[in-house]
Amino acid sequence: MNGDQTRDIPACISCHGDNGKGNIANNVPYPVIGGQRRIYLRAQLVNWKLGERSNSPGGVMNKITKSLSDDEIDALANYISGL
Ligand code: HEC
Repeated sequence: MNGDQTRDIPACISCHGDNGKGNIANNVPYPVIGGQRRIYLRAQLVNWKLGERSNSPGGVMNKITKSLSDDEIDALANYISGL
C-alpha cells in the first residue's frame, strides 16, 4: 500500500492499482497481480530480482525487487495472491 520510502521502494498499488487489479496509464499497461497464483507471483519477483526477467519499462521491476529480501518476496506473493 505504501512502499518504503526509506528504501526507495514505491507502493505497488501506485502502478498496479487498488488491490492489484491492474491499470493503464499513459498507454502503459500495469498488469493485474491481485489474485494471481502465489507460486507464479513469487517466481516473477525472484526472476526480476535475479535479472532473468527484464521486460518492465525502464527496468522498474528489476529495481524494486533488488531491494526486497527473499522473506519479503514470499510475504508479498502470499498476500497479493489473496487479493
Ligand atoms: C512504477 C510502476 C510499478 C510499480 C511501483 C510496481 N510495478 Fe510491478 N510491474 C510494472 C509493470 C509495467 C509490469 C509489466 C511488465 C511487463 O510488461 O511484463 C509489472 C509487472 C509485475 C508483475 C508480473 C505480472 C505478471 O503477470 O507476470 C508482478 C508480479 C509485479 N509487477 C509485482 C509488483 C509488486 C509486488 C510491486 C510492489 C513491491 C510492484 N509490482 C510495483 C510496474 C510497476
